[in-house]
Amino acid sequence: MASMAVTIAGLELANPVMSASGTYGHGLEMRNFAGPSSLGAWVSKTVTRKPRPGNPLPRIAETEAGFLNSIGLENRGIDAYVRDVLPEMAAAHAVVLTNIGGESVEDFAELAARLDGERACHALEVNLSCPNVQGGKLPFSTSPTMAEAVIARVRAATQKPVFAKLSPNVSDIGEIARAVEAGGADGITAVNTLLGMRVDWRTRKPALNTIQGGYSGVGIKPVALRCAWTCVRAVKIPVIGCGGIACAEDVFEFLVVGCRAIQFGTASFTDPGRIGRLAAEMSALLDAHGIASVTDLIGTLHVPNTLAKVPGAPS
Ligand code: SIN
Repeated sequence: MASMAVTIAGLELANPVMSASGTYGHGLEMRNFAGPSSLGAWVSKTVTRKPRPGNPLPRIAETEAGFLNSIGLENRGIDAYVRDVLPEMAAAHAVVLTNIGGESVEDFAELAARLDGERACHALEVNLSCPNVQGGKLPFSTSPTMAEAVIARVRAATQKPVFAKLSPNVSDIGEIARAVEAGGADGITAVNTLLGMRVDWRTRKPALNTIQGGYSGVGIKPVALRCAWTCVRAVKIPVIGCGGIACAEDVFEFLVVGCRAIQFGTASFTDPGRIGRLAAEMSALLDAHGIASVTDLIGTLHVPNTLAKVPGAPS
């Protein structure tokens, strides 16, 4: 059977499959669908310093090829997370990336410092890119200066690997990727949701209370893949692909463009058990193609020599 193990930023994972933040609770709430050892790593819902009730309803709206959300980072805060969630994850020997969010550079730094001593948290994923707070302004993921500043403060506050989760809602994601690398990130997650909206033309009302929200699901896969590929080419640190992944074939597209791991998100809402079966599906597909290790796929995209002549192509 094909080898599924990967290492990313020093983390040794049984396979490259991670849950995408916010789509699978903090992890083990979903253990009836996916056992602790079925995923390479579990990424928590964003944790903030203080509890947050999230945005008013409605905050989910289905679309043709995915859905819009405007949850607003609902969570019980860092104290409850450390007290109630991390011990359970440790008991299950799960590899945990804790996703942290804040409204200021200080918020991020404080959360990183707080988690630094928590052995059950193996790495941080810094949510620079939630589109559902601060009116969709995305201050930390659209400005290279701000992105670098947040990551530099987090870097200074922790010994753990730091992943920066970037937004696709920018004109040059490569520039943001270089900024977080300069700030000391050990890796990048590409990408969070696309800003979108839906309206009911009959009632003239928006589908979401916040009017606009984050669009995710199979419809965004081409956008996410391009963003991930652009990040891979922009930086030396590893990239985790995220966006629209629903099956083993999708995962392999992200690995071929150079991602070392992937996150599976919105597809869990229609089949919560799929993420736990994904590594076995990937292994069977590799066997069918005579590929010995999942790592053999990483960064194997054949890029035409003429690419260099395409105006605007990532260098
Ligand atoms: C949310 O809680 O609003 C979604 C989280 C995110 O997009 O980062």
